[in-house]
Amino acid sequence: MKNIQNIRTDYVKGVLRLQDLQDSPGQQLSQWLQDAITAEALDANAFCLSTLNSKGFPRGRNVLVKGVEEESIVFYTNKTSSKSADLSLNAKAGATFFWPELERQVCLYGNVSELSEKENDGYFASRPRESQLGAWVSKQSQPLSSREELDATLEAVREKYRDIEVIDRPSHWGGFRIAFVSVEFWQGRTSRLHDRIVYTKGERGQWQKGLLQP
Ligand SMILES: Cc1cc2nc3c(=O)[nH]c(=O)nc-3n(C[C@H](O)[C@H](O)[C@H](O)COP(=O)(O)O)c2cc1C
Repeated sequence: MKNIQNIRTDYVKGVLRLQDLQDSPGQQLSQWLQDAITAEALDANAFCLSTLNSKGFPRGRNVLVKGVEEESIVFYTNKTSSKSADLSLNAKAGATFFWPELERQVCLYGNVSELSEKENDGYFASRPRESQLGAWVSKQSQPLSSREELDATLEAVREKYRDIEVIDRPSHWGGFRIAFVSVEFWQGRTSRLHDRIVYTKGERGQWQKGLLQP
C-alpha cells in the first residue's frame, strides 16, 4: 500500500464567493448536483446520511437523494432498516455530499419527517420492476442466515407477481424529508485554505449566508 501519509490533493478547480451563491440553499444544491451530473461524477446524487442510534452513536451510510426542494431533500429507504429506527427515535439527520471530480463538498443537517403515502406511492411506481420486487424481499438491516435464503425469497416474490402487472408498495418502504437547518457549501482551494459558506436561517426566517474559516 502507498504510504497514506503522503496522499493529499491540492485543490485548484474552483472558487466560491458569497456573491456567486443562490438565495436559497436548495437552489444552490440543485446547481451543484447538476454540475456533478454534467461532470459525470459516479452516483452524483449519493450522500452520506448520518443518524444517531439509541445508544447515542452516530452512524453514516450512503443513500441517493431523489428530490431537492427549496428547503429540503428527499431520500427513500426500507423502514425495517437501522436508519429508520434511528430516525423514529431522533428525527434529526446529517447529509454529506462529496464530488471529488469538482473538489466540492456539501454538509447539511436538519429535521426529518416521513413522506406522505401519496409521495411514497408516486415514487415507488416509477422504480424499475426488479427494484420494486427487491423492496418486498429484503427486511433491510435485519440479520440474514444465508444468501440462499434471500435468493429463495426473491424467487417466491417473483412467482407471486408473475402475472401481476402492477406491484403494490410494501407499507415498510418509503421516504424521508430532511428540512434544512444549516447547509454548508465547500470548495477545495490551494494550501488547504478552502472556501466555505454556510446558510442558516435568520430571526425572520430568511436564509442568510456567512463565510467560515477553512
Ligand atoms: C452509492 C450508494 C447508494 C445507496 N442508496 C441507497 C438508498 O437510496 N436507499 C437505501 O435504503 N440504501 C441505499 N444504499 C445502501 C445503504 O448504504 C445501506 O447499506 C442500507 O440502506 C442499510 O443501511 P442501515 O442499516 O444503516 O439502515 C446505498 C449505498 C450506496 C453505496
